Amino acid sequence: MPGAFEGETITRRRLMDLWANGVGGIAAAAFTLPALGFAIAPIFTEPPVLWQPIGTPADFPDNTYMTKVIVITPGIGEAGNSIAYVRARNPAIDTEPEDQYNHWVALSSRCMHLGCPVRYVAAAERFICPCHGGVYDFRGMVAGGPPVRPLDRFYTRLTDGLVEIGPRYSVNSELQRFSPRFPGEPLDGIGQYMYPSQPDTTDRPPYN
Ligand code: FES
Repeated sequence: MPGAFEGETITRRRLMDLWANGVGGIAAAAFTLPALGFAIAPIFTEPPVLWQPIGTPADFPDNTYMTKVIVITPGIGEAGNSIAYVRARNPAIDTEPEDQYNHWVALSSRCMHLGCPVRYVAAAERFICPCHGGVYDFRGMVAGGPPVRPLDRFYTRLTDGLVEIGPRYSVNSELQRFSPRFPGEPLDGIGQYMYPSQPDTTDRPPYN
């Protein structure tokens, strides 16, 4: 090779360049690969689909909500629990299409502004968020304040005489179903494209 000493196949400068580039590459990979794995791993996660019994059909009237503690994240004790507000479907006010997953209306207690827990006030038939004054009507639709979409919902079904509550889904202002989104992510108009669903491979009931 030109510039190499006799009997050598590579110059010392070239050898040092290769060595420096190799070490630099390994150092860069040590930083970037863990971050890349952290970002991509959710695509391959498969969280279990939980269906939890919460009572018999007779436990749920259609004119008020029952409060139920449900497991959102299994395996971490009480920190993984949350509250769902559940009532029977009332055809007079629940005008969204009926299917096998909404004979009972189960609302998430997580505010769709920034995620504070909302509380159902039966006397006012409203859900009130204590953080920034968000208000939702009896169906969980935004009635006032900063929330950007209605309260999330859970699939429900009847199995062996028991009402079961299943995976969470998000809704827009027409109560069309979407895969679960974070609080603060609107789903009307262009919002549904600006905030795509979180990638996972969970086998859920169909969204609209
Ligand atoms: S978190 Fe509920 S209104 Fe802000």
